[in-house]
Amino acid sequence: MSWVDITSSITDVEQITPITIGDLHLLVVRVNERWLAFEDRCSHAGCAFSQDGELDGTTAICYCHGSEFDITTGEATRPPAVEPIRTFPVQASENAIEVDVSSGS
Ligand code: FES
Repeated sequence: MSWVDITSSITDVEQITPITIGDLHLLVVRVNERWLAFEDRCSHAGCAFSQDGELDGTTAICYCHGSEFDITTGEATRPPAVEPIRTFPVQASENAIEVDVSSGS
């Protein structure tokens, strides 16, 4: 595991926060009191959700070709994408929000 403290990057807990860790571009969001992190890259043809998509609850929608993903699992729930997107564990305590960038699945 490789937990990275992202607390200082989260300036508004009601917004989606883009975070870059090395070569990895993540989107971090809190939905229904649960923190979730996923790669800002559609598995279909690589569009960035932050530029060509939106989040509806726990569904990430890619407007490049219309794919949808469940960001709690990464699973593609609407074609043309069939491969999942990468998701990353997030742990939040009173003092810190951390993402495990080593175990993206
Ligand atoms: S790149 Fe996202 S649906 Fe094609």
